[in-house]
Amino acid sequence: MTDWQRLEKKYFMPTFKRMPITLVKGKGVRVWDENGKEYLDFTAGWAVNSLGHCHPEVVSAIAEQAKTLLQTSNQFYTVPQLQLAELLVENSCFDRVFFCNSGAEANEGAVKLARRYGKLHLDGAYKVITALNSFHGRTLAMTAASGQRKFQEPYMPLPDGFINVEYNNVVALKKAITAQVCAVMLEPIQGEGGVNTPDDKYLRAVRAWCDEKGILLILDEVQTGIGRLGTLFGYEQFGIEPDIITLAKGLGGGIPIGAFLATENASVFSQGEHGSTFGGNPLACSAAYATLKFIIENDIPSKVQKNGAYLIAQLNKLKSRHDFITEVRGRGLLAAVQFDSDLTDKVARSCMERGLLVNPVKPNAIRLMPPLTTAKKEIDAAMGILDKVLAKM
Ligand SMILES: Cc1ncc(COP(=O)(O)O)c(C=O)c1O
Repeated sequence: MTDWQRLEKKYFMPTFKRMPITLVKGKGVRVWDENGKEYLDFTAGWAVNSLGHCHPEVVSAIAEQAKTLLQTSNQFYTVPQLQLAELLVENSCFDRVFFCNSGAEANEGAVKLARRYGKLHLDGAYKVITALNSFHGRTLAMTAASGQRKFQEPYMPLPDGFINVEYNNVVALKKAITAQVCAVMLEPIQGEGGVNTPDDKYLRAVRAWCDEKGILLILDEVQTGIGRLGTLFGYEQFGIEPDIITLAKGLGGGIPIGAFLATENASVFSQGEHGSTFGGNPLACSAAYATLKFIIENDIPSKVQKNGAYLIAQLNKLKSRHDFITEVRGRGLLAAVQFDSDLTDKVARSCMERGLLVNPVKPNAIRLMPPLTTAKKEIDAAMGILDKVLAKM
């Protein structure tokens, strides 16, 4: 048998901390490694496989599109991107969309759009306020936007134009706003930061403050969007409508795609001011269209609400049994379990050995983000494994 992991050591830049299994197959909530061992996948490609692995609707859309038309460029109209655009706009508070290929690229585009707005309407204001502990992607600008020192330090000096302030603190945000600020960009719940949920009033206060100042509110819903929190978009749960939203991850059901959407007022690009070779690619858009249509037609968000509440309740039961669990956080099918010490590697590894994949989001916290289609009995199976693992810590 080929030693794939040795090849990785030899050929890859060593940026990823991988777990020592090579996955070769997936179906629904389950994946299999090269030795045939089965796992419950509560990482879902980092909140990507919204309908589980290899969902038949997504697979058949991809297969059909692969036989028909793979790539044309945006010099021409193609049908899947227009169908997807219509579905996104008609089911959201936005008027226009731009397609790209990843979350970082969606955020880059959103920030460019906000800067363009600043040039046209705010006397050239160009700065964007973001939150400490946020994560917006790995490009240079998004590294500056992501308020985490460990990501920023190796690449300093970083591009100008981002101010990182404390999350969930309206006073800090108000203090940071100057005439040079054109937008605020926030995650409705911080995913990579450890599943941090703000107070109920926070986003409403930020929205009101942005309105008062005439600046834009961008929500990065790369992780929280497309049903993950139990509504199609996370903003629906916070009683606000942003000016711009960014999406990626779950939108493509496993195929790389990103998007940002804006209201008519914020949609200020004109011809030639932004672009992408692969953005809106027919294969990616047909996968995303099949995924999104399935999610909407089958009201997957309300199932996420129900099963997400069940997941959090079960995790809280574990908390009452294992006193080194200090907190359970989350909403919908995005959850984190916090420990009182750096147990994550040990917990994640033991879970893996027993057939459950979890995400080591922080040295002292694991994150769970299973497919949106995960059933109660699969949550029970995962909780059974986690309970056994925790009992041994
Ligand atoms: C909220 C958020 N924004 C942006 C990104 C970056 O997305 P990508 O890795 O597709 O560039 C992520 C990735 O985890 C994310 O969670």
